[in-house]
Amino acid sequence: MLILRPFRDSDVDRIQEIALKSLREIYDPNLYYSIASSWREGFIVAENNGSIVGFIAGTIVSPEETRVLMFAVSEGYRDRGIGTLLFTEFIRRSAMLGARRISLEVRVSNRRAIDFYTRFSFVIVGLLPVYYSDGEDGYKMIKVL
Ligand SMILES: CC(C)(COP(=O)(O)OP(=O)(O)OC[C@H]1O[C@@H](n2cnc3c(N)ncnc32)[C@H](O)[C@@H]1OP(=O)(O)O)[C@@H](O)C(=O)NCCC(=O)NCCS
Repeated sequence: MLILRPFRDSDVDRIQEIALKSLREIYDPNLYYSIASSWREGFIVAENNGSIVGFIAGTIVSPEETRVLMFAVSEGYRDRGIGTLLFTEFIRRSAMLGARRISLEVRVSNRRAIDFYTRFSFVIVGLLPVYYSDGEDGYKMIKVL
C-alpha cells in the first residue's frame, strides 16, 4: 500500500540514498532538516509497504512563489504514478498557501523530467549555465497557478 506522509528526521539516510542515485547530487543531511523545518507540508514522502520509494521537497520563496528543490522516485518504482501523486499534492499545497507560481530547476539533459513538468503546464523560462555540481546547465521552469 502506498501512502504520502510528512518527512521525519529518521528518513534522512534513505532520502539521501534516493537523491544520490536519482539526482546525482550529495546534499548535507542538515539541508533536509532545514527544508523540513522551514515548510513541513512542502516535504512529502511516498512510502510503499513501509519503505520510502520517493519524495518531493520544496520551499516557500515568497508569498507568491514556492519552489521544488528535490524530487525523485526510486528507480524500481517509476512509471507507476508515484511521481504524479507526489507532484499533484505539492501543487495542491502550494495553491492552499496562496502561491501564484511554482518554480524549479532541471538538468537540460533530463528530457523525461522536462516532459513530466510540461504535462503539468510548466514552461522553460531561462537557462542556468553550469548550474549543477558536475558542470551541467539547467533550465528554470515555472508554472502559474
Ligand atoms: C521525474 C520522476 C520523479 C517521475 O516519477 P514517476 O514516479 O516515474 O512518475 P509517474 O509514474 O507519475 O509518471 C512517469 C511516467 O509514467 C506514466 N504513468 C503514470 N502513471 C502510470 C501508471 N499508473 N501506470 C503506468 N504508467 C504511468 C506517465 O504517463 C509518465 O510517462 P512518461 O514515460 O512520458 O514520463 C522520476 O522519473 C525520477 O525520479 N527521475 C529521476 C530524478 C529526476 O529526474 N527528478 C527530477 C529532477 S528535476
